Parts: sequence; C-alpha cells; structure tokens
Amino acid sequence: MQSIRHDIVRLLIEHKDRFLSGEELSRLAGCSRAAVWKHVEDLRREGYEIEARPRSGYRLVHRPDRIAPEEILPHLTTRSFGREIRYEPTTPSTQILARKWAREGAAEGSLVIAEEQVQGRGRMGRSWHSPPRAGIWMSLILRPPIPLAQAPHLTLLASVGVCLGIREFTGLPVTIKWPNDLLIHGKKVCGILTELRGEQDRIDHVVLGIGINVNAREEHFPPELKPIATSLAVEAGGEFHRAPLLAAILKQLEDVYHLYLREGFSPVREAWERAAGMLGQEVTAKTPQGTVIGVAERLNDQGALLIRTQGGEVAVYSAEIEVP
Ligand code: BTN
Repeated sequence: MQSIRHDIVRLLIEHKDRFLSGEELSRLAGCSRAAVWKHVEDLRREGYEIEARPRSGYRLVHRPDRIAPEEILPHLTTRSFGREIRYEPTTPSTQILARKWAREGAAEGSLVIAEEQVQGRGRMGRSWHSPPRAGIWMSLILRPPIPLAQAPHLTLLASVGVCLGIREFTGLPVTIKWPNDLLIHGKKVCGILTELRGEQDRIDHVVLGIGINVNAREEHFPPELKPIATSLAVEAGGEFHRAPLLAAILKQLEDVYHLYLREGFSPVREAWERAAGMLGQEVTAKTPQGTVIGVAERLNDQGALLIRTQGGEVAVYSAEIEVP
C-alpha cells in the first residue's frame, strides 16, 4: 500500500508539467484506477493539490512541505544513509524508535524521522522543542567498526557533515561550537545527541539524534529559547523545503563518515577545525571538574578541546562552552 502511494507521488512529481491519465498512473503504479483515486484523495487530505480533469487525468499543482520518504527519496544521492526510512507524523522522540529499531537489527544508515516530537530530548537531560513541520527531527543508525573509546569522533564528524550540508543548501554562515552545536550569528540552530550501545570494547550501534530548526519563526520559540536559538528561515528571511535539505545533509554526513572509516580522525579533525567558529577565541568551559577559562586552540586526537590557559594547555573532554 505504502509503496504504491510512494510510486504515485513519484510519478506525479516526475510528470508535473503535464496530465497523467488515470490509466497510465494505474499501469505505472501497478494498481487499479479505483486505488489511484483513493490514494489521490488521501494525498489531498495531507495538503497535496492535485488537479483532476475528465479525459486528461491528474496533475500535481502543489506539494506540502513534508519529509515523508516519497518526498525525500527523489533527492537522495547517498549509498546507505536514509535508504531505509521510518516516518512518523508525530512521536514522543525519534531516538526511542531508532534505538528499538537498532536493537531489532536495523541496517546502517536507517533513519527515523518525524514531523513533530512531543518529548524531544536534548543533551544533559534537557528537552528539545520540536514543533510540527518546523524542523528536521531525525535519528540515524550507524554501525561503525571502531573501538568504543573512539565514539567521541562520531559526535564531531556528525557536526561537520550537518554543518556542510546546511551551508551547501542554504549558503548560511553556520559554524560549529564544541563539541557539536551548530550556530548562526551566535545562536543555536541545530543540536546533536549521540547515544550508543557497546559490546565489550566495540560499538554495536550508534544513534545520532539530530534536531535542526528549519522553518520556525522567531515568535514560535518559547521565551527561554528566544535569546539563544534561531532557525534557518529566521536567518535567511525565507522558508526552506526540508526534504531536499535533508538529502543534502545526509550526503555530506555519509561522505564525512566514509572519510573517517577510510582515513581516520585526522581529516575529520581538520574539517571540524575549519568549520568551528570558536578557535582562537577566549572561552569559558564549565566541566564536571570545574571552570576552565582560556583560548580555544584545537582538537586533540581523542576529539577533546584544547584550551590555552594562563597555567598551560588543558584538554576538555566534557563541558558546556560559553563563547562571549
Ligand atoms: C542538544 O541538546 O543539543 C541535542 C538535541 C538533539 C535533538 C534531536 S531531535 C531528533 C532526536 N530526537 C530527540 O528526542 N532528540 C534528538
């Protein structure tokens, strides 16, 4: 059922400059004409505008901004990332679904995506504001053949991939704040939550939870987020189609991931340092061991942030960073 519907959407998109007769659609999608009509009605209820003319057939006039598989797949150029998708109009958190799916054996690159999360989760036990259709709320399952100790590399490479994907698609000046917040003009536009399951010293799977504020308007942020959060639409002064944006991000993510598996952390670290907006600046790092103040210099081999303080260089492995 679902795949017939995907085919109908794909065919309507591919032929959007002309009418496709009911007969052609039913033949190409492999279903009856009555089934075509039923799918067209369902799609209209979801916001697709489909013109139907007697003796001519169907023509797609307008597509709603959805991030359902049938909208993403036509844009996708990846090998495995996003090739298996679970799509939910609304869910408590994509992390929960992805962790369950990963335990059941989901393949590398499988993606859970939702239009809305009602219990979106952030780092350090915080909640993550995820209103309907305003962003990209997704969890990507990876099975990297690396030791558990190298897991911090994945967090850093994820921020590089998402940063490059957003830059490429929007042209906006996105930068990374250690370890993996994405900022525009100092305000947070994307957060990444890395959760993993290990077996002895190997990683069984990683779930990369990625939340991007895409089309949220300033007035839609809760008061406590207004001073610190932004969206791509606020920064660009106009909305973005999320499906092609997501495809661009998945491609960059996959490329950085494969670069890491092939060549190790070194090129990823260089890319991270190029995309970071905080190196060379004085920062305050609130670590579990206390506050470190100094100039953020670079990453070490483990992915820790090296800060030059008056007393020498300090490696920070876990912290909240404040950049003035
Ligand atoms: C952060 O605190 O900066 C990390 C935020 C991560 C949010 C994403 S949205 C998709 C996935 N599902 C969740 O519940 N959280 C992550």
